[in-house]
Amino acid sequence: MGTAAGNGGGRLRSADWFGEPGRMGAIYRSWVRGYTPEVFDGHPVIGIANSWSELTPCNAHLRRVADAVKQGVWQAGGFPLEFPTTSLGETLMRPTAMLFRNLMSMDVEETLRANPLDGVVLLSGCDKTTPAMLMGAASVDLPAIMVTGGPMLSGKFQGRDLGSGTDIWRFSEEVRAGRMSAEDFRASESCMARSDGHCMTMGTASTMACMAEALGMQLPGAAAIPASDSRRQVVAMAAGQRIVAMVAEDLRPSRILTRAAFENAVRVNAAIGGSTNAAIHLIAIAGRVGVPLALDDFDTLARAVPTLVNLMPSGRYLMEDFAYAGGLPAVMAELGELLHRDALTVSGRTVGDNVADAPCWNREVITTLAEPLQPPGSGLAVLRGNLCPDGAVIKQSAASPHLLKHRGRALVFDRLEDYNLAREAEELLVEETTVLVLRNAGPKGYPGMPEAGNLPLPRKLLERGVTDMVRVSDARMSGTGYGTVVLHVAPEAAVGGPLALVQTGDWVQLDVPARTLRMEVDDQELSRRRQQWQPPAAPLARGYARLYVDHVLQADQGADLDFLVGASGHQPPRHNH
Ligand code: FES
Repeated sequence: MGTAAGNGGGRLRSADWFGEPGRMGAIYRSWVRGYTPEVFDGHPVIGIANSWSELTPCNAHLRRVADAVKQGVWQAGGFPLEFPTTSLGETLMRPTAMLFRNLMSMDVEETLRANPLDGVVLLSGCDKTTPAMLMGAASVDLPAIMVTGGPMLSGKFQGRDLGSGTDIWRFSEEVRAGRMSAEDFRASESCMARSDGHCMTMGTASTMACMAEALGMQLPGAAAIPASDSRRQVVAMAAGQRIVAMVAEDLRPSRILTRAAFENAVRVNAAIGGSTNAAIHLIAIAGRVGVPLALDDFDTLARAVPTLVNLMPSGRYLMEDFAYAGGLPAVMAELGELLHRDALTVSGRTVGDNVADAPCWNREVITTLAEPLQPPGSGLAVLRGNLCPDGAVIKQSAASPHLLKHRGRALVFDRLEDYNLAREAEELLVEETTVLVLRNAGPKGYPGMPEAGNLPLPRKLLERGVTDMVRVSDARMSGTGYGTVVLHVAPEAAVGGPLALVQTGDWVQLDVPARTLRMEVDDQELSRRRQQWQPPAAPLARGYARLYVDHVLQADQGADLDFLVGASGHQPPRHNH
């Protein structure tokens, strides 16, 4: 039993359960009810890890996607078993879904390892569900293929397209500035999210779906297809067929997630104008497979790569347009020799083979290397200096060009809540040139590093028509956000990083072309301030949040838990019977 296929022609892992000759085999088979006996006899058992949840609206349609995967698995001679995972809904969870990314990765990892699975299809969608699943699957290293749920259809409101997130930020500022009515703002809600799927701007969910494809963990073309397009079901069925073959080929994440694959992903992220969050997530995934990937790679590897994709928040179109224009294969084909074309993917073919004939149907949406949307090196910049010795990031394509070199006085807030109160006050001492600084919003400080870095502008400046200011924090920003926003300052303030020492009134210099962020405070004064610095109040006393705060790494290291870095393989820690 259990030797017909899989594991490079060797014995199936699931045969340790279902092929067991004695009493335990009977128990294992008996409790998995409702199948004819031959399904336990040499058919690869394929887990369908489903992050479906009504609390994660972006993933709420994934039961339907799972049905298509199952059909594909059966067609190819596998035995599909669907199971739920933790699900992370970006919009509803507090304090931030990021706090739970590592928890979800642990759930995925331990569920895969503990069960009689030969391979797995990972169904994700909303921002954190994609990296969490890839992290967990990478640590187990069973054959795995991802199917993201696809973006929503384009928002439509008053005769124009609406982008999720991006237009929420824009509209809420318009309301605060008195240029949009509260009624219109309310009416735009249901026009923005009008179908199944995740955010349809190039926010973090779309970015990570593209990253899964660029890494080679998702079938070519799958990232961009809208959730409600019938081709989403087709690609899910194809993934179900493909995972059965992957088990036979013993095609595991460790063969796909190589340094070359991560370099491809970093360059693709620059070309698509992807989210700053990709830096944190890719470093965390790389950590699970032991691939060295540093924050600086996001700057150096991407310097030769222009922004090709004209999607919000860097451009004007949406994921639906991107899919119809040819999706990610068209981008990867255009990148040509900028990518490692020999990198292996879940299709069983190389990147080069996957995209060799990929057409582009709309050069407004996917531009060319010769005439890009933005010039090479306009993606993520990694900054250093006495404010951020371990690095900070800024998304240049979403920033205001005139602020990329800027000197201004700091206005410092210790808590996000303090800023949210102060920003409405007429008497707030703030100018257009002020550098807004938010601290204690990093991985340990908040905890979970919320998407708070694109602070809404002070009301009095908005009313004067100011649309952007330099903002600096140890927080993250939604991938749909925009502005001249310096994020992920490391080390964070809560662990005593220099961000903890900056004071209101200090001069701060941002020089993105020189890749620096500095406060004009001399070392002597900084060491005086350091002696007076008090760490923030002790963290939460118990539970997962306590575990997180005690073990989370800094942003430049991927914000994984220190004891989760690396892989444990697919053997259960001990045999129970
Ligand atoms: Fe789920 Fe944006 S809220 S992807």
